[in-house]
Amino acid sequence: MIFRPACLFSLFAACNAFPAYLRSESPLSAQDNGDANVDGLKRIPDAAHPFQPPGPTDQRGPCPGLNTLANHGYLPRSGIVTQADVIAATAEGFNMGPDLAELLWIISVAYDGDLITGKLSIGGPDPRTAALGSLEPLLGYEGGLDYHSTGPEGDTTATRQDQYFNESRALDPNLYIQMQSIAAKYGGQYTIDAMKDVQKARYDHSLAHNPIFYFLPVEALVMMGAKAFVPAFLSNGTFGAGGIANEASIAAIFGARKLPDGRYENVPERFPRNWFRRGTPFSLVDTLAAILDFYTSRDIPFGANAGRVDAFVPLDIGAITDVNGLACVLKQALQANVPSSIAQPGRDLEAVVSFIVDRIDPLFQDFGCPSYNATQREVYSAASQWNQYGPPASADQRPKYGQTSS
Ligand SMILES: *[C@@H]1O[C@H](CO)[C@@H](O)[C@H](O)[C@H]1NC(C)=O
Ligand SMILES: *[C@@H]1O[C@H](CO)[C@@H](O)[C@H](O)[C@H]1NC(C)=O
Ligand SMILES: *[C@@H]1O[C@H](CO)[C@@H](O)[C@H](O)[C@H]1NC(C)=O
Repeated sequence: MIFRPACLFSLFAACNAFPAYLRSESPLSAQDNGDANVDGLKRIPDAAHPFQPPGPTDQRGPCPGLNTLANHGYLPRSGIVTQADVIAATAEGFNMGPDLAELLWIISVAYDGDLITGKLSIGGPDPRTAALGSLEPLLGYEGGLDYHSTGPEGDTTATRQDQYFNESRALDPNLYIQMQSIAAKYGGQYTIDAMKDVQKARYDHSLAHNPIFYFLPVEALVMMGAKAFVPAFLSNGTFGAGGIANEASIAAIFGARKLPDGRYENVPERFPRNWFRRGTPFSLVDTLAAILDFYTSRDIPFGANAGRVDAFVPLDIGAITDVNGLACVLKQALQANVPSSIAQPGRDLEAVVSFIVDRIDPLFQDFGCPSYNATQREVYSAASQWNQYGPPASADQRPKYGQTSS
């Protein structure tokens, strides 16, 4: 499926100032946990998409939203997915804009999937993604979304430990409680400001405890975007237009279940009962605006720990002041940082880079970005050299459900 995004520039012109959902912070924070306005919105899931927990060969991984879609059959329940699957399912289940879904797809398949079949595992590596099945994949190791410190799986996620701590695939119930206690300061709402505090707390923890902490574009941008997705996509109703991102809206999608004794257990992700999808698509430009807001309002500079926790090396890419500038940083990083951050055995880097370049040019053509600058590649490789990439240390790649908070 070839998707041509609607003109990004006209979208951007229409939301020149901050998008509505960012402006709406104060009214929403002031709101109590009362009824969400869900008039006219679509209830998810529909009857054709009942919840079923994953079977023994079904792949599930670090992304709760994709796991939820697969557990309801909006995505193939196997967890082996194509671009068409992801664009259709994220639109149907969450009202994700197709340009955003396409970019996330490009990042995911280029780093972790099969360039020929266009298939990706949303969890660990799986021979079903490869052109030749269980034979050696043609373009090298296809790590699946579990593969660490490539675009989609990185340090400082809200509810998963950094891979360095050896458990990055399943929800950590203690981290869920930490996020919940931050939301409690915002009236129990998982607002943009609450999620910025979560990002800051997770960043500070990684900086202080993870000797191979890595926070560079592309990965760092994905980490911030994913936190903005909590209110944007998990809210019951449209966040910023009467939607509510509270415990009832988000817990089931994160796979967090409260036990009678007050502890939390991680369980397969699902949509809550009586939950209504946002009414308008959340697009690439909305996401870039949210990431810019995260990056400029908390002290979370790009950089990496050089093998020790007291050896942070910042990445200086100049000030980022607007959405166009951020879009160009992302585009540049997709082109320049891929070689440094794809260290998967046997990957054909030229093939990966040209796969990305061919596909992102149309998505980014309206941001006025400078053409590819080879010096940037050197800057990124210097900053990336301490990063350690790889599959999860555990031989069993599947998320372990049933872990409880302490
Ligand atoms: C969503 O909002 C509707 C309308 O206020 C409410 O009836 C429903 O219980 C809410 N669902 C969740 C999961 O909070
Ligand atoms: C992670 O697991 C590896 C392999 O079992 C082990 O060598 C390492 O010490 C563990 N790291 C931490 C932080 O527990
Ligand atoms: C290319 O990138 C380098 C390093 O960030 C920067 O110093 C230089 O000005 C850039 N050159 C152009 C033509 O943008």
